Amino acid sequence: MHGMDTARGLLRFLTCGSVDDGKSTLIGRLLYDSKLIMEDTLATIEKDSRKHGTVGEEVDLALLVDGLEAERQQGITIDVAYRFFGTPKRSFIVADTPGHEQYTRNMATGASNSDLAIILADARKGVLTQTRRHTYICSLLGIRHVVLAVNKIDLVGFDEATFDRIVGDWATFASGLGFQTMVPIPVSARFGDNVTQRSGNTPWYRGPTLLGHLEAVDVEHGVEDKSFRFPVQWVNRPNLDFRGFSGSVASGRAAVGDAVVVAASGRTSHIARILGPDGDVDVCSAGDAVTICLADEVDVARGDVLAPLADRPELADQFAAHLLWMDEEAMLPGRQYLMRVGNLWTTASVTAIKHRVDVNTLEHAAAKKLDLNEIGFCNFSTAMRVPFDAYTENRQTGAFVLVDRLSNRTAGAGMISFGLRRATNIHQEEFLVDKRARAALDHQKPLVLWFTGLSGSGKSTVAKLVEQALYREGRHTYTLDGDNLRFGLNRDLGFTDQDRVENIRRVGEVAKLFVDAGVIVLCSFISPFRAERRMVREMMADGEFIEVFVDTPVEECIRRDPKGLYAKALRGAIQNFTGVSSPYEPPEQAEVHLHTVGRTPEQAAVEVLDHVRRLIAS
Ligand code: ADX
Repeated sequence: MHGMDTARGLLRFLTCGSVDDGKSTLIGRLLYDSKLIMEDTLATIEKDSRKHGTVGEEVDLALLVDGLEAERQQGITIDVAYRFFGTPKRSFIVADTPGHEQYTRNMATGASNSDLAIILADARKGVLTQTRRHTYICSLLGIRHVVLAVNKIDLVGFDEATFDRIVGDWATFASGLGFQTMVPIPVSARFGDNVTQRSGNTPWYRGPTLLGHLEAVDVEHGVEDKSFRFPVQWVNRPNLDFRGFSGSVASGRAAVGDAVVVAASGRTSHIARILGPDGDVDVCSAGDAVTICLADEVDVARGDVLAPLADRPELADQFAAHLLWMDEEAMLPGRQYLMRVGNLWTTASVTAIKHRVDVNTLEHAAAKKLDLNEIGFCNFSTAMRVPFDAYTENRQTGAFVLVDRLSNRTAGAGMISFGLRRATNIHQEEFLVDKRARAALDHQKPLVLWFTGLSGSGKSTVAKLVEQALYREGRHTYTLDGDNLRFGLNRDLGFTDQDRVENIRRVGEVAKLFVDAGVIVLCSFISPFRAERRMVREMMADGEFIEVFVDTPVEECIRRDPKGLYAKALRGAIQNFTGVSSPYEPPEQAEVHLHTVGRTPEQAAVEVLDHVRRLIAS
């Protein structure tokens, strides 16, 4: 790749905007006018656009890019396709991101190693919320050079005043975002004005053409000058004589003989060998895919980061970061997600949203959740300690993504600001009397019996009977009940999704304490979301968590309506009422599945007790 660099070096850029803004047409125009399209591709496009007749006699350049997009949809490439082209002055890589609804997600993926962003605005519409959002995201992602391509300038009659007004709006917004260059250009992607050729239609415009600017803009890459960071992708051990760590160098460079440290464990060694695609090499640098062998037998696993001994990344399990939320389903603090930092996967949750950023005004606002396309500054807590650098220091090791655990969708992109020190001085105390000893005193196995189901399904009624029977058998029990806890520990919580997540998180922590005390704890909570029930399950040891699905159809709950709440909810007098105006996600694999219709509570209790007795006996 280095061979492609010319005097000005390589420029990586991306375009932000949706299909309607003319993004595909603009990329197509750049390639077409700089004669970079291969002849046969061009012939097909000319034929196609005559067939579709979208733009009269003109070649429809969007077909070029969109055609490649169709390929991509057939599974040939991932989210972002990188397109290479070059002029005598410079080589370019465009991160071509599909311009569909999910544009921000792809934008964030493509932007993380771009030097420059072209933000498209439609001259007829001016600066929209989306324009501001893209501009702000670019700044968050550390892009220091932006171009505002005011497209479709032909459709406003090449009007200078319109252009000036749009540029004024944008500059007011973007000037505080720390960009090194901000260049507005009036263009018509369709007709080519100011794309590669200066346009006679805009004699009032004195700036560069788009290509001219891309060729001239001065950017420093710097990834090679940064500290050496090597996130291990896999441990390569074909036989007992060889053990190497494979991956791509994220930043910096290293040479055989260098002292390195495994960031998380602090173990140290020296680089004994570096293997490239063609065998041994002396050095490796940012972007190289290599296998590194160390001089000593130190523990290294996938996800570990090798770094210079004298210049280690930070290590924390709590940190503050900007989070860009990209999922339809809102981000709820307390909910667990999978976090990927480099090659490390861990579970993580947001412990607090410090503020949400209004992308129109850049003002900070309070928030209890983040919806699609919202950006927040949040505190995170992770299950494992994560090696990282501040994103402003290193875009490779300071970025992460969050993945929804149930849908497996990439739901958020994060940029780490700093570690939170508060956890580092707290140490887990080891006690002389432990869970096993406490439970042995009571001759029992500590358990969580988790009753979930709609309000009025009979959770508490059955739980009461189960507890009574266990007590009579000499078991040491305790009950945590939704209504009751909401008078005390959880009195600050209501029934929004985010409050229910927090409700269950706290209950899970309390249940864990009871289990640690050796007690059989019965929990009855609607607990409508799978994600949180699973979280509580994972907090306990194997076999300690028994999910009891109290399965009563909502019609039956409405008929019973023991507290008169369904009547109220159906009148609209209670908001977010489960089963009426708020969802309930039934368990998929509950240990006990109780159908209550046509059964007495006593019969249901016996079913639960049978299960518990079998467990205790085994
Ligand atoms: S949970 O959804 O967060 O698990 P929890 O079990 O603690 O709920 O509390 C549910 C109880 O609160 C219900 O049995 C009912 O008595 C009462 N309640 C009041 N408002 C609501 C509501 N909007 N939705 C569900 N239950 C409600």
